[in-house]
Amino acid sequence: MSGTLERRLEQELEQFVRDGVYKRLNFLDSPQDARVTMEGRGSVIILSSNNYLGLSAQPEVVEAGKAALDRYGAGTASVRFICGTFTVHRALEAACARLVGTAASLSFVSAWNANEAVPGTLLGEQDLVISDQLNHASIIDGIRLAKAITKCQTAVYKHADLADLEAKLAAARDRRVRLVVTDGIFSMEGAIAPLPDLAEICRRHDAVLMVDDSHATGVLGATGRGTAEHYGMVGQVDIITSTLGKALGGAAGGFVAASAAVCDYLTQRARPQLFSNALPPTVAASSLASIEYLEAHPERVTRLRENARYFRERLLELGFSPLPGETPIIPVILGETAAAIRMSDLLLAEGVFVTGFGYPVVPQGQARVRCQVSAAHSREDLDEALAAFRRVGKELRLI
Ligand SMILES: Cc1ncc(COP(=O)(O)O)c(C=O)c1O
Repeated sequence: MSGTLERRLEQELEQFVRDGVYKRLNFLDSPQDARVTMEGRGSVIILSSNNYLGLSAQPEVVEAGKAALDRYGAGTASVRFICGTFTVHRALEAACARLVGTAASLSFVSAWNANEAVPGTLLGEQDLVISDQLNHASIIDGIRLAKAITKCQTAVYKHADLADLEAKLAAARDRRVRLVVTDGIFSMEGAIAPLPDLAEICRRHDAVLMVDDSHATGVLGATGRGTAEHYGMVGQVDIITSTLGKALGGAAGGFVAASAAVCDYLTQRARPQLFSNALPPTVAASSLASIEYLEAHPERVTRLRENARYFRERLLELGFSPLPGETPIIPVILGETAAAIRMSDLLLAEGVFVTGFGYPVVPQGQARVRCQVSAAHSREDLDEALAAFRRVGKELRLI
């Protein structure tokens, strides 16, 4: 490798350390659960996992993966249309569509790939895609790629600002297709998208609505069917993307759920589908078992909701000011990135694993620790974590 590149990278890495923004990886030696075994630290309570329903270590989910390994071997060994596709992928895709309430779905190796596939495959030069300002990085990059590939027009509307969206749609009447994209739950804020208003605006402007429900699948709605269920709108969202790497077992993978035509078109033309292997069958089977578990156990979703409410209310009682909301994502804003990383380090020393996030993941000056509560947590786990928050909050003079 060129010495110039190597030197530049080393200098930047050293600067990250000096600025207190260098990310150290924590190695775990146990499944994701309420508590994990961290190398060098032993058992810690984890409040920074997307394992919302506690399904990562669910015996039925783990067993399904093992059985699929025996039945199908390690993987597809090529892309699906060339090499054949496993029957478990078809079963998984039927289950994803059933869960979120669409006619069809198509799986990808990640939700990142699913989000990347949609605009770049479905849009063309005469079309426009409009994205919420706080959408996930995979949507942003997917749109950048779509612009480069298809020369479609792109625009950003202010976060959840319906007037801004409406103005941008009104100015785009000449476009053949208008695609509006929003996260269902915004991952750094825990806020829920105003879906009824978005759907109504899209209807009036003949726009297609796409919702990335990666943090909402398994989380929102009485039975965990996502943002649409939360608002009583199952079946009313044109395109839903979501991950299999969070509430639904937490392994990896994602999907696009939409009409049969959209999913078939993506099967024919989406580049991450045509030029990359399918989900490993172990992962497909574990994800399928997670969906079946969720369908049979809606009480997991209730428990998640109760845990989230409990943790948020106790944090408020302690004197913290978490961002208001009703999801299991509970951010405490601290300002500078170094402050968030310091709080996260102190909490870890107390046996609580909560990640600090700073710029550029969140806007400058709005660094935060982001707590994520799971249905796997017992009240004792949450109380122990809250006691650590109290000690660290006092030490840092935050409360
Ligand atoms: C809103 C959102 N969309 C997409 C993704 C990507 O998910 P995956 O890990 O399946 O690529 C994430 C993961 O952080 C996310 O939070």
